[in-house]
Amino acid sequence: MTTSTVALLVAAAVAAPVVSLSAQNNVPVATVAANIASRSGPGDPPTWAHDVARIMQNKCQVCHTPGSIAPMVLTTYEEAKKFADKIKSRVATRRMPPWHLDKTVGIQEYKNDRSLSDAEIATIVNWVDAGAPQGDMKDAPPPVTLPDPAKWQFGDRFGQPDLVVKSAPYTVAPTGQDKWWRPETDMGIKEERWVRAIEIKPSVPLGKRVVHHVLTTLEQDEGPMLQGLASTAMDHSPGARPMSGGLFMEWALGKQGEIYNEDAGKLLMPGAKIRWEVHYYAIGKEVPNDQVEIGVWYYPKGYKPKNRTILNMFNVAAGSELDIPPGQKTVTQNFITLRGPARIENFQPHMHMRGKAMMMEAVYPDGRREVLSHVNNFQWNWHVNYIYADNVAPLLPKGTMLVFTAWHDNTKDNPNNPDPEQWIGWGDRTVDEMAHVWVDVTYLEQDDFDKKVADRKKAATIKP
Ligand code: HEC
Repeated sequence: MTTSTVALLVAAAVAAPVVSLSAQNNVPVATVAANIASRSGPGDPPTWAHDVARIMQNKCQVCHTPGSIAPMVLTTYEEAKKFADKIKSRVATRRMPPWHLDKTVGIQEYKNDRSLSDAEIATIVNWVDAGAPQGDMKDAPPPVTLPDPAKWQFGDRFGQPDLVVKSAPYTVAPTGQDKWWRPETDMGIKEERWVRAIEIKPSVPLGKRVVHHVLTTLEQDEGPMLQGLASTAMDHSPGARPMSGGLFMEWALGKQGEIYNEDAGKLLMPGAKIRWEVHYYAIGKEVPNDQVEIGVWYYPKGYKPKNRTILNMFNVAAGSELDIPPGQKTVTQNFITLRGPARIENFQPHMHMRGKAMMMEAVYPDGRREVLSHVNNFQWNWHVNYIYADNVAPLLPKGTMLVFTAWHDNTKDNPNNPDPEQWIGWGDRTVDEMAHVWVDVTYLEQDDFDKKVADRKKAATIKP
């Protein structure tokens, strides 16, 4: 297998002007009509046993369970009742569960959607307003078994990973500035293998509390062709450093891993190395010799998926282009033109404390403009990866322009803003700003693309 047989075209920044201007864009948070609720009897308020426990099981307990990442557990009535007011406020403002997408525009079907419906939000709000009654525990659903955070989450589906690579140990001091740990690890690859899935797992319980994000970049000898393509595909900012194998996977709180579409995957080559960037922060106690693990599942030997998926980091604003005066809101925009037909797999905005909203739109070659995804309630400590469902993942023809827009709010109205008196520019620390987006792009051969578009049209015209 040589790289030349890989269907890989490249998205390049055709024009990358960045506009940075003040705007009065106020991004609304969902308001809730609190009058639709499921009830145990007409006129009765919702109860924990009858209505709320089930929602907590489905939408909250995966994180709010002992040993998982959340600060408190929501597995029993007693625990949940203690936090009733906080639950109401987090849920009504759509900050919990972490799913900060605008539900009124763009694609709404995602593989990992964990949001609450309007009816579920109303049930929780009404329950809290009624004094968080327990109800008759005979109505309560049996407890559910939750995934063990110490285990590989993809293990149920794929078994143990074929390959596990660990970052070099690092001791996180109890206090101090954020740290970026950048070791390199040989993956021990002897022959080319195609990757089906990747998962990144900070250590449990303490690693999960000190790791803010993990970036893994693949260092491997791609040969001159891919090197040239990859360097423009990865980072569109002027003067960006070429990254040979491109990004392997990015992880942050709220994200588990990546499973590639069956016709696509990532290629590992002999001698491949992982270059890590682990962003650690102090939690008031020492965390000795912390290591982050990356688990890799291969396609069967000899199987070669038709397409190669490339994780792109598209800059909406880089370096000196980000200029956020005190007390101001700013809008930043960037444009990337697809050099070949492609399927977009996901949308994962990255900003810090002043980050407010980010949108990805497509302008088709015929001029049609469409919002693909809009995160209008961005929360800097969550890096939610919005993964499109198979039947809606955007299929975009060659020449489509992706338009990215980012909004920052440096006013006192932004509850996450630690200091509205500060001028803010680009930087690594969470009190500095960033504006980029992680997008997995799978470039398709023209005939394959045409077939996928035709299949989708056909499916859309067959009404059940
Ligand atoms: C993906 C994991 C995850 C899911 C799912 C999740 N939470 Fe959380 N939750 C967290 C984490 C981590 C925190 C602490 C960080 C933060 O505040 O964002 C948190 C914080 C909270 C807080 C604030 C606690 C405090 O002391 O201030 C509330 C309330 C809450 N969650 C309620 C819920 C409810 C209700 C649901 C389900 C409807 C839910 N969460 C779903 C991970 C999760």
